[in-house]
Amino acid sequence: MPPLDVSPDEFRAAADRVTEASAGFLESLDDLPTVSRTSGAATASAFDAPLPEEGLGLTAVSDMTEIANHLRAPTGRRLPYVVASGEPVAALADLYASVLNQNVTAWRSAPAAVTIERTVVRWLAEAIGCRGFSGSLTSGGSAANLMGLAMARESRAAANEDGAGAGVVYVSEEVHMSVPKAVALLGLGRAHMRVIPVDAGFRMDVRALETAIAVDRRAEKRGVAIVASAGTITTGAIDPLPAVAEVAREYDLWLHVDGAYGALAALAAPEKLAGLELADSLSVDAHKWLFQPLDCSLLLFRDRELANRTFAYNDDYVTLFSDDPVEGFAFFEESLELSRRFRALKIWLSLRYHGARAFRQAIAANLRQAQLLRDVIEGEPAFELLAPVELSAVCFRWNDGADPATLNRRNAEILACITQRGRVLLSNATIRGAFALRACIVNHRTTDDDVRIVMDEVREAVKLTS
Ligand SMILES: Cc1ncc(COP(=O)(O)O)c(C=O)c1O
Repeated sequence: MPPLDVSPDEFRAAADRVTEASAGFLESLDDLPTVSRTSGAATASAFDAPLPEEGLGLTAVSDMTEIANHLRAPTGRRLPYVVASGEPVAALADLYASVLNQNVTAWRSAPAAVTIERTVVRWLAEAIGCRGFSGSLTSGGSAANLMGLAMARESRAAANEDGAGAGVVYVSEEVHMSVPKAVALLGLGRAHMRVIPVDAGFRMDVRALETAIAVDRRAEKRGVAIVASAGTITTGAIDPLPAVAEVAREYDLWLHVDGAYGALAALAAPEKLAGLELADSLSVDAHKWLFQPLDCSLLLFRDRELANRTFAYNDDYVTLFSDDPVEGFAFFEESLELSRRFRALKIWLSLRYHGARAFRQAIAANLRQAQLLRDVIEGEPAFELLAPVELSAVCFRWNDGADPATLNRRNAEILACITQRGRVLLSNATIRGAFALRACIVNHRTTDDDVRIVMDEVREAVKLTS
């Protein structure tokens, strides 16, 4: 017998343990502290063990359950950054996908998996108003932004053959850090990134954008792209997409929309995301507001020929030998990845299991819960809302009228106390110099009661730290 062989019965026994542990975790989830009481020493002692020479068998499988004692539990009150809770039916697809172990490079290597991924890409594009876009799943919004900007560079400052030169990319002050990273990696140079100010609602100021472009044109700087955000990381602001698209068209710049956080809100509130369809490329994170287990993001684009020009590099071993539009299709001709896992299966299963309506309702509930949280904050004079609530990020602070430095210190203490108590997990943000408590609801488990508990915990932390 090959040394790594596992009989069907052995697999069933191991899988039963995993299923049991997973179901038990879900059953007790709401009682778990959102932040486990652990430490570097405790995690090292639990997991940093020597590699066993002999196999531990089912004990190794059971040992995995210890992980649940050292984590950030995905309850309805885990609301930091932009983090979903992982829809569990989708998690089952991840197991099956790994067992099937398809390499989703091209139809000829994984006929069903490629067809399912192309189907899911079409479903999601249509669901957010981008009918006709193509694309592929990626590990995250950072990879999707990198790929979108690689296409931008190839379209306006082709670099694949002769290497990259400077190229100007226009972003707002609120842009996600993955964009400056991409600009650097693509050799465009961060010194050539123009950071455009935002208005009172943290949206890109379109007049300032036009002025910056005009200045660069006069100086004969090569413009490459505008990156607009559909849901900024800090406040969830949506840049004025139609106006930005108009500027992109007028000045012949690529328009990449970073919709990693907010684009999927178009399922429930399409009016907020008007103009998404004007993007040349668009990042959409399914592991955020489609509630999918990590990792799962999507890059959409409208020009497949350009994707091919950006990413295709044919060598003998990947020759496709088919002109058929289905059987000759290869993701590696439109993506930076070659070997790819079967990410689409979880979206496919989860959407088919629950139906599109349930997802629309879950997103609508999160949007409403954010307004509920905002209303509670606005109703209490001791608290101050620090930014408009456009999507589901709510930035606020406790404010007793102390000086700015004291308020920043006090709110940092309040946040540390909330985290340490472990019922709720928020994150921090800096809003025009003010330390903010930040709740971001992209969570299918969050209930209206959870939102009330958030504020109970904040009030309690204010008392305990006074
Ligand atoms: C607006 C925005 N863009 C990009 C990203 C990066 O996405 P990922 O963490 O999936 O790489 C995030 C992550 O929170 C985000 O909020």
